[in-house]
Amino acid sequence: MALMKVAVLGAGRLGTVLAKRLHEVGYPLQVADPHEGKRQALERLDGVTVFAESSKAVQGAECAIIAVKPQYVGHLAQEISENLSEQAMVISMAAGITLEKLRTWFPNHKVFRAMPNLASSIGAGTTALVGDAPERIVTMLAAFGHVVPLDESQIHAFTGVVGSGPAFICRIIDNTVQQLQTHWADIAPEAMQQWLLHMITGTAEILSQKNLSPKALEASVAAPNGTTLAGLEAGQGDVFDLAKAIIAAAARSEEITLETQASGGP
Ligand SMILES: NC(=O)c1ccc[n+]([C@@H]2O[C@H](COP(=O)([O-])OP(=O)(O)OC[C@H]3O[C@@H](n4cnc5c(N)ncnc54)[C@H](OP(=O)(O)O)[C@@H]3O)[C@@H](O)[C@H]2O)c1
Repeated sequence: MALMKVAVLGAGRLGTVLAKRLHEVGYPLQVADPHEGKRQALERLDGVTVFAESSKAVQGAECAIIAVKPQYVGHLAQEISENLSEQAMVISMAAGITLEKLRTWFPNHKVFRAMPNLASSIGAGTTALVGDAPERIVTMLAAFGHVVPLDESQIHAFTGVVGSGPAFICRIIDNTVQQLQTHWADIAPEAMQQWLLHMITGTAEILSQKNLSPKALEASVAAPNGTTLAGLEAGQGDVFDLAKAIIAAAARSEEITLETQASGGP
């Protein structure tokens, strides 16, 4: 089946990411943004037509993605109402704009909410989808990564975990690298960061592929008297201290080496 013609309304931080990714997977696009500089980044792409006005960008579109700030969605709805085809579906990415509100602004259209996250740009994101959307919408959102059907009442939790979570993980990685630098100044922070990244992605991948619980995986690697158990014990507190755990595991690794040498082992 031919891919839908999609209008992306707003080419700011999110709209640009969405438009570039949809273009990569072959969707014909019409993008609108009042700022020439933002349009320029997209107009060079084959199959993408850019407009200064959303009313023009929605012409002939089968799906309109709203990527403007929440406070402008009502105004945008008025702007596009005349030119938006009756069959067109509307997906709002605007935080805090409920389905009920969208239905008042788009009484004649099928409306959905979606909440993408950071990794959407490389097709490795997770996008919440609120509303009983047809397969074509799910398929389109799958260009950004996993699609999670969501009850609207769970959107705040989802935003905390999946929307904001990447920044939290970045902060944990950065803090951990800095703490480890004070312990191992001779190891380049870039190398330490790469080790952490590979470790985190590999752990997430094995949990997901083997359908294991974190507790089960932890138990399978935490041998008695081993480095992991030493790290788990040292890191445990009100919050788990990753750097402290790593340093304790490394210290236990050194101890084990000394113990092995003392006992004449390999
Ligand atoms: N950024 C994210 O990672 C993220 C993640 C999830 C959801 N969201 C949601 O996505 C929406 C966009 O966020 P953003 O960070 O991309 O905002 P942004 O960077 O401000 O981009 C919005 C763009 O839309 C333009 N615009 C305003 N009215 C328009 C209209 N009628 N037609 C076409 N374009 C119009 C804006 O121009 P002006 O600057 O002149 O207004 C701006 O260039 C928000 O509702 C936000 O809640 C964002």
